[in-house]
Amino acid sequence: MTTIEHKNNSEQMTLPQHVAIIMDGNGRWAQLQGKGRVAGHRAGVQSVRDCVSGARELGIKALTLFAFSSENWLRPQEEVSVLMDLFMFVLTREVKKLHKNNIRFQMIGDKSRFSEKLQQKIVDAEQLTKNNDALVLSVAANYGGRWDISQATQKIAQLAVKGDINVADIDEHMLNQYINLSHLPDLDLLIRTGGDYRISNFLLWQAAYSEFFFTDRLWPDFNKEAFKGALASFSNRERRFGKTGEQVKAQ
Ligand code: IPE
Ligand code: IPE
Ligand code: MG
Repeated sequence: MTTIEHKNNSEQMTLPQHVAIIMDGNGRWAQLQGKGRVAGHRAGVQSVRDCVSGARELGIKALTLFAFSSENWLRPQEEVSVLMDLFMFVLTREVKKLHKNNIRFQMIGDKSRFSEKLQQKIVDAEQLTKNNDALVLSVAANYGGRWDISQATQKIAQLAVKGDINVADIDEHMLNQYINLSHLPDLDLLIRTGGDYRISNFLLWQAAYSEFFFTDRLWPDFNKEAFKGALASFSNRERRFGKTGEQVKAQ
């Protein structure tokens, strides 16, 4: 974990290394303005830019954004199709900027259900930015925490069937190696906007010891300042990882 000096005061802030966000509330934001739900998805892109630039400025190592869950296919077809077009549009427009800012982009989730064109865009963006190391931006699309654990299990089962590993050696450390994001620092902070208090099948495995930050703000209203507010809350938490408070203080 890194500690930084606040620009405006001399207070020390403990920064998370890895932050994930469930970007929720786009539809309600649009409806409150008398617009269709998709206007909220479009407005939410600016909040993504704000959080990416905030994370980059502060030196956070990894930012993981939940853009589309494995259950979101259940939405009206028109909304799903607008979301797919929006991913395509944003990828096309923003990747160069990410690259210029030394940000590595990757997508996590089951890509096989996306159009060939979108899959290719994703591969191109990952390829272009693969050596960047200021920040890893992971976008979770067609992602589900249960899918993630299942796909890791499948890979390990294949190794066991081939006789490359012993079943007795399968433990959480081995499973972890096949879970998405395991090459990044552990998830420190999970933010959810939009006022609900649930994980909605996001990073089930990775969130084992993360701190949670819930806010009523709808995603399009979540700006850089709000992002920094979540970090400030994180900074005040005592993380005990099973130990007592006294043990932690003595460390
Ligand atoms: C989050 O906003 C974006 C996606 C799930 C794609 P929502 O679209 O879920 O907005 P609400 O929760 O209905 O307001
Ligand atoms: C979670 O939001 C998924 C994303 C933000 C991409 P949802 O709006 O799909 O979650 P539920 O259905 O309210 O739990
Ligand atoms: Mg929602």
